[in-house]
Amino acid sequence: MKTTAELAADQAAFWNGPGGKSWIASYERIQKSIAGFSESVLAAAAAKPGEKVLDVGCGTGTTTGKLAAAVGDKGHVLGVDISEPLVDVAREQKLMNATFAVSDAATYPFDPATFDLVFSRFGVMFFADPVVAFKNLQRALKPTGRLVFVCWRTPPENPWGLVPMQAALPHLPPYERPGPEDPGQYAFGDRARVERILKAAGFGVPTFEKLDQMTLMGKDVPEVLDNLGKFGPLARLFKEATPEQVAAAKESIGKVLVPHVTADGVKLAGACWLVSAAQH
Ligand SMILES: C[S@@+](CC[C@H](N)C(=O)[O-])C[C@H]1O[C@@H](n2cnc3c(N)ncnc32)[C@H](O)[C@@H]1O
Repeated sequence: MKTTAELAADQAAFWNGPGGKSWIASYERIQKSIAGFSESVLAAAAAKPGEKVLDVGCGTGTTTGKLAAAVGDKGHVLGVDISEPLVDVAREQKLMNATFAVSDAATYPFDPATFDLVFSRFGVMFFADPVVAFKNLQRALKPTGRLVFVCWRTPPENPWGLVPMQAALPHLPPYERPGPEDPGQYAFGDRARVERILKAAGFGVPTFEKLDQMTLMGKDVPEVLDNLGKFGPLARLFKEATPEQVAAAKESIGKVLVPHVTADGVKLAGACWLVSAAQH
């Protein structure tokens, strides 16, 4: 089993290396596919003029920009992300009322009781030790502040990820599934685990709202197959596989996607938690 330091180092290496690069390359498509979830979490966060906001795992800073517009010139947003290349892209927006830091949000020395809102769009599932990380975020939140984030639910509730994966796996080298406590895309799928983490970190009882939306995976099957090879667990597996294995996996994925082709592209169901909590 890996130590916390090793898990954190893996995440930093991934998001500063191949993960960050392929996230940027796929970002336009990802942004479209998560648009509905994004609107919901921003609406729930309801950032107000003058507020101080922390955007955790801000990536290329799209949500930082939206939050900055909402808080206006008397407010401020700090975007923190472990990935330098993603923060470089975020900084290109040259936002007047936002700053960015390349750092692990679990250990960043935030000033205590600073933020009205700690926010994240899919940026809180990658902590090596989530209790330590959320304690750090809790300390940074004002006594009257709120935590609002969106994260994926479990793989079976997310056919957009599971269906291609199940079709491909029989053709690919063995896939090492992340353990239930490991960081990763679905690490916050289990509601009871998230409740436990937030309680241990000092937050009050969180509320969970289910968000269920169709997720656009590409305009047609060939584009989806191309997209799956660019970012995500399958992209990583394709790199370890032979060209023959990749071709067989893609053929198999292509077949299972056919029923999901619509006039507006290939769409499968996606499921998220919208999580909100106040201080204890
Ligand atoms: C799925 S991406 C989401 C990015 C962004 N929030 C968005 O919605 O476009 C996850 C982000 O979390 C960042 N991240 C992962 N571990 C982190 C950590 N310990 N501290 C800060 N950021 C982290 C990654 O670098 C990546 O930008």
